[in-house]
Amino acid sequence: MLDLVTPVQGRVAFYDLSRKQESFAEAVVAGLSRTPKSIPSHFLYDAQGSALFDRICALPEYYPTRTEMRILAQSAPAIARLVGPEATLIELGSGSSVKVRLLLDAMTAPSAYVPIDVSGEHLLAAAEALAADYPGLAVAAICADYGDTFPLPETPGRGRQVAFFPGSTIGNLEPDDAERFLSGWARSGVDMIVGVDLVKSRDVLEPAYDDAEGVTAAFSLNLLARANRELSADFDLSAFAHRSRWDEESSRIEIGIESLKDQIVRAAGHSFRFAAGERIETEHSYKYPVAGFQAMAGRAGYRPEAVWVDPDQLFSVHYLKA
Ligand code: TRP
Repeated sequence: MLDLVTPVQGRVAFYDLSRKQESFAEAVVAGLSRTPKSIPSHFLYDAQGSALFDRICALPEYYPTRTEMRILAQSAPAIARLVGPEATLIELGSGSSVKVRLLLDAMTAPSAYVPIDVSGEHLLAAAEALAADYPGLAVAAICADYGDTFPLPETPGRGRQVAFFPGSTIGNLEPDDAERFLSGWARSGVDMIVGVDLVKSRDVLEPAYDDAEGVTAAFSLNLLARANRELSADFDLSAFAHRSRWDEESSRIEIGIESLKDQIVRAAGHSFRFAAGERIETEHSYKYPVAGFQAMAGRAGYRPEAVWVDPDQLFSVHYLKA
């Protein structure tokens, strides 16, 4: 039974193209010195934040993850027909490489899988696990920010190159950046399968970002807890609150942390003053109507070839042809 514990070797080509990232300390000092205060949302995902985010994805109020999975499971055969045989599937922000399996299982003789993620160790582990489950597939993992430009590795197969960008992560980009991002891939001749959360009523949107059990609030405030752990900060978590609101005009959820009183906080050797009601902005989550997203894709140089939506019209998965 020894081969059960033998690590899979030589199956995953690994490319480290990551730039030096801004450290958490640098981001906190710069972000709390600005007006309005802001800290980029990717710092929410340390080990504890990632565990909390996994719980968010399973909450009754947080519909995006499960709805997208259902759409992918149902439409995988149709997506696979558009992708065609011997394709290379590039996943942007691949995480644990769970959703992509629905596509790979439906595709005809996929040639290569190229997962791209900033978290190198997690990326390699996920890529190796996937390579073990798909013996015929070439796997080339790239440690990089999916928003950067970088050369794609040579992969076998004469089929299309198709990028997979699930989770409505495109909604976390400002619309101008999202359009630029799409046009970069369109110019490279890469088709795109992209998950996009839809505009819907406030009663559904707001609870998705502020659940009854308080998991989302814990996830949001973990940013301050992380600063206390890592930067010798002295945030009093009971003097701050998670805030999220749907702004219909800009079609986005605005997520942040609000100071509940006038206070001074120390972090990374600096002092920061907060007024009562002042916010630290962490993330925008834009929602698009189907036609609105297709129009943006069109401006970026893509032809919207197909779109799949769940029966409750919560979420959409688009196939864009380069
Ligand atoms: N990218 C996710 C989204 O926009 C992230 C997310 C879900 C999130 N809930 C959150 C980010 C709460 C910050 C706080 O849906």
